[in-house]
Amino acid sequence: MSKKILVTGGLGFIGSHTVVELQNEGFEVVIVDNCSNSTEEVLDGIVAITGQSPYFERFDLRDKSKVQEFFAKYDDVGGVIHFAASKAVGESVENPLLYYENNLGVLVYILQELTKKGSASFIFSSSCTVYGQADRMPITEDAPVKPAESPYGNTKQVGEEIIKDVCKVNPQLSAIALRYFNPIGAHPSNEIGELPTGVPQNLVPFITQTGVGMREQLSVFGDDYPTADGTCIRDYIHVVDVAKAHVAALQRLVEGENKENFEVFNLGTGTGSSVLEVIQSFERVSGEKLNYRVAPRRAGDVIQAYADTRKANEVLGWEAKSTLDDAVRSAWNWEKKIRDYEKTSV
Ligand code: WQD
Repeated sequence: MSKKILVTGGLGFIGSHTVVELQNEGFEVVIVDNCSNSTEEVLDGIVAITGQSPYFERFDLRDKSKVQEFFAKYDDVGGVIHFAASKAVGESVENPLLYYENNLGVLVYILQELTKKGSASFIFSSSCTVYGQADRMPITEDAPVKPAESPYGNTKQVGEEIIKDVCKVNPQLSAIALRYFNPIGAHPSNEIGELPTGVPQNLVPFITQTGVGMREQLSVFGDDYPTADGTCIRDYIHVVDVAKAHVAALQRLVEGENKENFEVFNLGTGTGSSVLEVIQSFERVSGEKLNYRVAPRRAGDVIQAYADTRKANEVLGWEAKSTLDDAVRSAWNWEKKIRDYEKTSV
């Protein structure tokens, strides 16, 4: 198979870190991104780390004719890692059709092109959100998929179903869905990281923005959950570990080691951390006190979710290497860098 890989959403948070790891492993990368939630400057960060410039095509994948033109132009693309999607849970409730178009319409267009090829590999960004509140911890891949709490969550469930159905009748297509737990952090070079737009919905960017004074105070959503300290538990995983798992999954498909042509893996560390433990980690690595208060629960939050990582460890030969402190430290270093940059460029 050609080692030219299309990375959709390759300028985004997880996408950009994956492009770096792909290039480090000798893959040739073509990024497609419409920069709706990213900037072209991310390319400079990728080049600074790897010394290599990926191909870059800026367009909106919702334009089916542009998707077709892309695959005609880059007819030697042998695999796709598909990150391009919308990911704000609340926005998906407000505007479900945007989510179905972005996350499912585009998926269909890409699969239509891939199924025309003699062989192709496909990696899909899925989410632990498909498990809802799982009955048992840690969560294994065969835990039941629970009814989605939001259109966003539904797009991940339905996305997996679409890929499964398409793989069934297209044996020349091999796909892996990676169910991310909570990716956080930034590249250790401090050249790329998360760039949330507006008020961050996720915990770690909210903490680091509070740390640099952009936000007044963090609200801890609920401290009366049935957990040791009363706050919710998640499996926070360093984004570089997540990126490396994508390369391992792609290698499995490229080398034809997959047992079925549609497989699913959890991407987590296997360790759950409470909201208060994440705050303590931040205070430890930054030496700063975080201004926070306990607020009411947030609608839709599950009590706890952390991964059983054995399948990914054994089958992909991959494991998360970084600790929570490593990941939070990298997020903090990145936050300080981007805020300094903003100060000096105004
Ligand atoms: C983590 C914990 C909050 C913010 C979501 C999506 C999931 C996903 C990742 C998409 C929870 C608490 C948060 C704050 C807080 N995929 N919290 N104060 O909820 O596990 O998952 O993001 O991109 O699909 O559902 O992650 O970072 O939002 O929250 O107390 O200001 O932090 O209640 O317990 P979550 P999160």
